[in-house]
Amino acid sequence: MVKIGIVTGSTRDSRVNGQVAEYILEKSKEVEGANFEIVDIKDYDLPLFNEAMPPAMANKQYDKEANNKWSQKVDSLDGFVFVTPEYNKAVSPSLKNAIDYLGPEWGNKAAGIVGYGSTLGVAATLNLRTILSNANVATVGPFGAFSLFTDFEEMSTFRPAEVHNATVQAVLDTVVSWSKGLKSIRA
Ligand SMILES: Cc1cc2nc3c(=O)[nH]c(=O)nc-3n(C[C@H](O)[C@H](O)[C@H](O)COP(=O)(O)O)c2cc1C
Repeated sequence: MVKIGIVTGSTRDSRVNGQVAEYILEKSKEVEGANFEIVDIKDYDLPLFNEAMPPAMANKQYDKEANNKWSQKVDSLDGFVFVTPEYNKAVSPSLKNAIDYLGPEWGNKAAGIVGYGSTLGVAATLNLRTILSNANVATVGPFGAFSLFTDFEEMSTFRPAEVHNATVQAVLDTVVSWSKGLKSIRA
């Protein structure tokens, strides 16, 4: 059994992110061999990065209590599904900040990406792949790509088209199998 965190990618008060994360959680109930949970970066209330040590050198010990809580949560997970909006052709600053906070907690784990935006979140997804590769996170091939115009009503209520089902299934299945495989590397 592996533990997979569905990581939110937006902290705006009026974000649509939570609806997409809940949809992924619902879809994950059909996947065997894993426990999925939503990991909401908003709950951790991380300020803009201001640690003395680069996370790669911090040995998982941080100056501030909130950062240690974030470190312990990510450390406890075997894999991730990042739900990311697209902000100016990249991930949101809050998601980048949350990723920057940690180093080895991410490493040798698998991740899937589910993006959304007016241009399907594809630029943000590719940006996130690059960021995660630097943290030794293996991103699976299939990725979700939802349109603000056709998968949301009035760009605010998530109503995903059925055509996405198979891709989301592939994202979740692959994250679970890769997470199981990568566990042996970390042992
Ligand atoms: C600062 C900003 C920049 C944005 N840039 C893009 C963009 O480059 N491409 C895109 O498809 N959508 C872009 N959008 C639209 C967002 O993807 C859309 O507002 C989405 O709802 C944001 O996710 P959230 O509601 O979960 O925060 C941008 C929105 C904001 C606020």
